[in-house]
Amino acid sequence: MKVLILPDEQAAMQRAADIVARTVTATPDAVLGLATGGTMLPLYEALAQRHREDGLSFAKTTSFNLDEYIGLAPDHPCSYHSYMQEAFFRHVDIDPARAHLPKGDAPDPQAASLEYEALIAAAGGIDLQLLGIGQNGHIGFNEPTASLGSRTRVKTLTTSTRRANQRYFASFEDTPRYAITMGVATILASRACVLLATGEAKADAVLRMVEGPLSAACPASALQLHASATVILDEAAAGALT
Ligand code: F6R
Repeated sequence: MKVLILPDEQAAMQRAADIVARTVTATPDAVLGLATGGTMLPLYEALAQRHREDGLSFAKTTSFNLDEYIGLAPDHPCSYHSYMQEAFFRHVDIDPARAHLPKGDAPDPQAASLEYEALIAAAGGIDLQLLGIGQNGHIGFNEPTASLGSRTRVKTLTTSTRRANQRYFASFEDTPRYAITMGVATILASRACVLLATGEAKADAVLRMVEGPLSAACPASALQLHASATVILDEAAAGALT
């Protein structure tokens, strides 16, 4: 695991953007794994800016998002489909037919999860997976105690994750309880991954991911097994590292 500590959020995000840009430039038909969440918003803005100003193209890329809430239609304003549309897809030249998210409104979410894994495999696997980290150490929606061998499936969200995400919904009660998420093993199968974490609130989770024992209690610690994982931090998120 390579850990890069940058002075601030802006520098950390630009470093992550550099890695995405390098991947897509070297391999225009790269398969990207994408994440949502507050941390990723400035990264998508930076990539959109590079598209506008430097001609960085996503026209041939394929993408697979990590996760989607169950029970939200794609056009629900709080769905990850909507997030991706607003934050990234509509600002770049990615082909919507190749930009995939799990189908949170599928009548059979478990079957939809298996189909999603099959689609990733049919695309040849993920070249570069972007990740954020939850304050409880989750990656995707692989909450503490998630099996490290898991593949895309339905997961129950913990109360702490629902509280953290409540800000996007009308109330805690309205915050979804379930999601479809790539599994830890799906993430580990990516050829390279970049985890971006900024802000003091992530410092403890970052410590457990980087220095803690490899344990399902902190699913992000599974990245210690990944042959090409880069963790990009600002100083605040790196604050608890020894
Ligand atoms: C989102 C995802 C989550 C987030 C994590 C951090 O697709 O998979 O694991 O990356 O919850 O979210 P923020 O960046 O909002 O703190």
